[in-house]
Amino acid sequence: MMINNPNMHYLEGNLYRYTFREEKVKSVVEEHCNKFDTEVLNLFAGKHKLNVLKEFRVDLSAEFDPDYHGDAFDFLHKSIDEEKSWDVIVYDPPFTDRKSKEFFGGRRVGKYTKMKDSIIKCLNDNGVIISLGHEISNFGKSRGLTVEELYVINPFGEIRPYFISIERKPL
Ligand SMILES: C[S@@+](CC[C@H](N)C(=O)[O-])C[C@H]1O[C@@H](n2cnc3c(N)ncnc32)[C@H](O)[C@@H]1O
Repeated sequence: MMINNPNMHYLEGNLYRYTFREEKVKSVVEEHCNKFDTEVLNLFAGKHKLNVLKEFRVDLSAEFDPDYHGDAFDFLHKSIDEEKSWDVIVYDPPFTDRKSKEFFGGRRVGKYTKMKDSIIKCLNDNGVIISLGHEISNFGKSRGLTVEELYVINPFGEIRPYFISIERKPL
């Protein structure tokens, strides 16, 4: 049976509307992306470009000039049809429905469960998903993934902690 036994890390940092405005968080994501020398798929790419070899950016908003302007779920369907897959996928959706409504024009992110299933189909064996949010096992054992690294981010005050989790798909 698969067991989660992640390396634990603790960081103190803010939670911003565009998550990677917090430099410490952005650096962790880049460090893990750069363990691969292939293109990174950045779903919900937002404002901040990653300092990586190559990035493919997907966002519903055209504001920050994504490579694919549209719904992440639609993009994943298209990728599955075209048999495209990646070694590293960054998953940083609006953390809650409320946040999505307040900040990103009220469009729901769609059915997360189905979206996650599609993301797994676009991930190569031995690849990783770097996800951000208030959940720890974003993709989970039920999809065959194990959490290898877990970063707890403490924004202090009344703001809930959030996590960066690195989950790997087995070979
Ligand atoms: C938390 S922000 C991501 C921030 C990004 N990592 C950054 O630091 O700049 C969420 C992003 O998801 C985008 N978004 C919301 N719903 C989406 C959807 N259904 N498909 C693609 N992008 C979406 C928003 O436009 C926003 O840029």
